[in-house]
Amino acid sequence: MAKVTLSTLAEMKKNGEKFTSLTAYDATLAHLVSSQGVEVILVGDSLGNVCQGHTSTVPVTVNDMCYHTRCVSANAGDSLLVADLPFASYSSEEQALANATRLMQAGAEMVKLEGEAWLIPIVARLREQGIPSCVHLGLTPQSVHVLGGYKVQGRDEARATAMIEAAIALEKAGAAMLVLECVPSVLAREITQSVHIPVIGIGAGADTDGQILVVYDLLDMTGGSKPKFVKNFMAESGSTQKAVAAFVAAVKGGTFPGPEHGFE
Ligand code: KIV
Repeated sequence: MAKVTLSTLAEMKKNGEKFTSLTAYDATLAHLVSSQGVEVILVGDSLGNVCQGHTSTVPVTVNDMCYHTRCVSANAGDSLLVADLPFASYSSEEQALANATRLMQAGAEMVKLEGEAWLIPIVARLREQGIPSCVHLGLTPQSVHVLGGYKVQGRDEARATAMIEAAIALEKAGAAMLVLECVPSVLAREITQSVHIPVIGIGAGADTDGQILVVYDLLDMTGGSKPKFVKNFMAESGSTQKAVAAFVAAVKGGTFPGPEHGFE
């Protein structure tokens, strides 16, 4: 795989070619993921759950994110490296710029923020300063205490319309990518078709430009009950490498996600 950049992803979207994304939190996972041709690695603040054992991403700090971003960056290969700005670390333009700068200097090539229209000036300011941003819409885990749990978002007309309008306005403000989490598949399709930037889905149906999973979920390493959108790729593979390769093949071949992994 040649070095993946935003231009690579734009070209793939234009050609209707699906791309893949997985989380990684350390150098070993980064190698596992990048060596199987995963285009985008996310140092997700899900590390609060899967590495630190918290029940939400709220306790994750900018220092935590910088540490894990440096670890992943050492072995990210040709994958595009995106890192999450954690909870309450981008409440103003200046705070976002200061913290995004730290993530970029730790090795990130793009930062991800959760929210909707209120992010417009922040995204514009980051872009002005040479920092590409990815906006995470739908189920935004940092707001779990406002949302009242991990629930599908955008099922009612008003929320769906607000999300579509926010996606278009965020692209106009300079957002370079979107992540849609746990939204009805039909809404995800509409948002994906309404913007020119690449859209990655998780629990958002098969029609987004790319698909992402938490790497430990696809490797079946997380205990307890799994969200509906997760598939255990270890079940049909004899090794972690083969499981990641199976995820890549399934996304590119259009067999993952299936209708059973989405929400109507
Ligand atoms: O933190 C994370 O892992 C994420 C993905 C689930 C999209 O935001």
